[in-house]
Amino acid sequence: MSEQQYNYGMVGLGTMGCNLVLNMSDKGFSVAGYDKDPKKVETLNGLDVHDNIEAYNDITAFVQALQTPRTILLLVPAGPIVDAVINELKPLLQAEDIIIDCGNSHFTDTQTRIDALAKEGLHFMGLGVSGGETGARFGPSIMPGGDLKAYNRISAMLDAVAAKVNGEPCTAYMGKGASGHYVKMVHNGIEYALMQLLAETYHILKVHGGLSNEELHTTFESWNKGRLQSFLVEITAAVFTQPDEDGKGMLIDFIADTAHQKGTGAWMSQDAMRIQSPIPAIDAAVTQRILSSLKQQRVVAARFFNKENVVEEAPNKETLILDVEAALYTSFIITYAQGLAMLQQASSTYKYETDIAVVASIWRGGCIIRAALLKEITEAFRKDDKLANLMLAEEFSEQVKTGSIALRRVLQKGLQYAIPLPGFSACLNYYDSYFSEWLPANLIQAQRDFFGAHTYERTDKEGTFHTNWNQTIY
Ligand code: 6PG
Repeated sequence: MSEQQYNYGMVGLGTMGCNLVLNMSDKGFSVAGYDKDPKKVETLNGLDVHDNIEAYNDITAFVQALQTPRTILLLVPAGPIVDAVINELKPLLQAEDIIIDCGNSHFTDTQTRIDALAKEGLHFMGLGVSGGETGARFGPSIMPGGDLKAYNRISAMLDAVAAKVNGEPCTAYMGKGASGHYVKMVHNGIEYALMQLLAETYHILKVHGGLSNEELHTTFESWNKGRLQSFLVEITAAVFTQPDEDGKGMLIDFIADTAHQKGTGAWMSQDAMRIQSPIPAIDAAVTQRILSSLKQQRVVAARFFNKENVVEEAPNKETLILDVEAALYTSFIITYAQGLAMLQQASSTYKYETDIAVVASIWRGGCIIRAALLKEITEAFRKDDKLANLMLAEEFSEQVKTGSIALRRVLQKGLQYAIPLPGFSACLNYYDSYFSEWLPANLIQAQRDFFGAHTYERTDKEGTFHTNWNQTIY
């Protein structure tokens, strides 16, 4: 192919970049790729199945091979590399060209880049991609945000490459500014919480319920045919049947119990504190990953903890499984409720104009948190786009109320038998607090006023008050 022919450019030809290029090429879009690594360039050129891809090792040749105005996607590690690539590209670009960052960048970095490039007449967009390597190749969930004019130039391509649910593409405009990366961050935080809830489910069923790997597989597999149907439940079921390559048994029993993280869950917790939106299930999931990483300390500490004091009664497996299923389903709803309430809040704080129903609908397929539940969630927000909390929607209020009873029973078992269930606990505490007309925050206000004259409001009259509290105890 000669110069100026390619519809799109892709910088970063690692597995994700390469797979997205192949996906775009399958859908009839021609793509020029660029990578510093000649091996990656060679690999992609060797894979050109439709003769509409060309990979380059020279950035100038790459940019010259693109149709103008240019649209260049980046799939490079988040952080300084994104800025380095932008700086390399910038002198070669012209006004109206679009750069789209498809990595997991922090939304504040994205906003900074949008503002800086706008001064040069360039469009910069943050776009979340979820679904891992397979998703990128065969249909991810795509979360683009930024300038609407720029979005309109790429929307047909995004619709074509995204996953489909009932023929509808799992991509849509997420809103202004850095909303695409913000929505992806929220997706990842929800992902962390759902994974933590599944890990706690495994813990209680294995340790208290005494379920074997085979029984765990059957249990998760049957749940995946019901209301819990979701990608994460499906892969959890599959994990329990994966044999260890060394023939020692099942692989799960040989994986170290130390969870890693790249930080997107923690970013969500940090911003939740900043914009004052409670997301305790996500916070608990992040904290628990950190706690799991204190393996050496836990090994030492475990010697001091006498589990013999915890007298366990043999459980009724069937009842336990039923309760845990209800607890998990209820906690899934409560987790989505927290994530979406935060997104609602962020949309107003950052003026994104994000439509929550649209977000829920594009998460129905392609992404890691896809779940049957998202169909009802989408409908709830379509009916009421100002819905303050998913738990208040008529589709869910009764379900969480009924489910909270089983959740309470599961938590009682955890407390009784010293099985930590911080995710489940965070969900129930959020539910109990949210549905409490009265919370003991009046005491906190009294204390604040006592030691710092911070004032308080009263329940019986308007205004702000300060009291000279009984100071005799000083
Ligand atoms: C996705 C995933 C993806 C990534 C996770 C892993 O949506 O496809 O979320 O973005 O695999 O961010 O995150 P941690 O390494 O932090 O668990």
